[in-house]
Amino acid sequence: MKILIKNGLVIDGSGNKGYQADLLINNGVVEKIAEHLDIEFEAGGEDVKIVDAKGKIVAPGLIDIHVHLREPGQEAKETIYSGTRAAANGGFTAVACMPNTEPAVDNRATVEMVQAIAAREGVTKVYPIGAITKGRTGKELTEFGDLQAGGVKALSDDGDEIMRSDVMRRALEYSKAFDLPIICHCEDNDLAGNGVMNEGYWSTILGLAGIPALAEELMVARDIELARLTNARVHIAHISTKGSVELVRQAKKKGIKVTAEVGPHHLVLTEAAVANYDTNTKVNPPLRLKEDIDALIAGLVDGTVDAIATDHAPHTEEEKNQEYAYAPFGLVGLETALGLMISALVIPGHLTWEQLIEKMSVNPAKILALPGGKINLNSPADIVIINPDIKWTVDAQAFYSQGKNTPFQGWELQGKAEMTIVNGKVVMEEGKIL
Ligand code: DOR
Ligand code: ZN
Repeated sequence: MKILIKNGLVIDGSGNKGYQADLLINNGVVEKIAEHLDIEFEAGGEDVKIVDAKGKIVAPGLIDIHVHLREPGQEAKETIYSGTRAAANGGFTAVACMPNTEPAVDNRATVEMVQAIAAREGVTKVYPIGAITKGRTGKELTEFGDLQAGGVKALSDDGDEIMRSDVMRRALEYSKAFDLPIICHCEDNDLAGNGVMNEGYWSTILGLAGIPALAEELMVARDIELARLTNARVHIAHISTKGSVELVRQAKKKGIKVTAEVGPHHLVLTEAAVANYDTNTKVNPPLRLKEDIDALIAGLVDGTVDAIATDHAPHTEEEKNQEYAYAPFGLVGLETALGLMISALVIPGHLTWEQLIEKMSVNPAKILALPGGKINLNSPADIVIINPDIKWTVDAQAFYSQGKNTPFQGWELQGKAEMTIVNGKVVMEEGKIL
């Protein structure tokens, strides 16, 4: 069926300012973009779905390059079925999924299995990320060429650091032959120790073991230096401290091939959120300080921080319903990211709408060399329609994600995805998955 989106503000991902236009989608692609498209004429006797997007934003579908779909092996937390529905509900048309599953995605057969399940059960596009080391143990490299032939778009041992610098160096050297970015989970295990939150005032008050900012920054510095040495591409996952932002900023100035992403939670919550011992605030890297938030926002604004990625990390209620020290790290993000970022970044004037789309769609596509991130004639119609004015309250029970582990329960947000279109097909309309 054809879809005609009328009167929206089109932000096309080209870097140009949004403009008022109508969009015709046919056969899965964007067929026409024009100031005015006539309904009768465009229908040409066929069925056409007309979408009134007056007052709404029409943008390239959001792309989240850091998602844990948990399949295979941890289906009690999330599945590709539930995770891609959560993604579509959040306005995402594509996600890249991390390989810390059981077993890990460290060989071609597992990559292909993830893709086969995604093709059968997913409602968004799914791009697997392969493990850097076998079994994610940080010792022996996987077969990058095989993983790429199977379809991986990047490599990462996310969830764990590769502590051995010689292994990371080899990984970076090896990755160049395939032009695959290495996504670094920057955490010095020894310094992080058994920490469960940011090391500082609140960890002292609460009597919880702390993770110092330096545990992240040392490894950001190491991986930047290794990228310089090898001339390979590194992407820093979930950057969370002021010091890390400065390291990336200086590295970019020197021409080192480094990009970075930040999670919505690190932009809106400080370590003080842990004060009620809500285990949904337990995340790795941990929530930091107001000065870190300010530095992360400044990094987004000046281009040091390229992308916003959720690190959507679903866990069961049983697992999260333990003492703070024992609960697993991670929080869900797919269904709150857009509303949080509109409310915290766009409405206060830190980012323009165009910049938000750049951080949540254009740049994520660029970093992993994925299709999308643009509304182009004759390219696949992966589109999100955003209502910028709607006010809503976060309710985890209404999530499509199996993971209800959000620290944002009850938050009042402004702005929401109202329609998600993947390959020219409406997969989400007003919160309903079709
Ligand atoms: O909080 C986190 N949860 N951080 C990670 O790096 C991994 C993730 C997970 O897989 O649960
Ligand atoms: Zn992660």
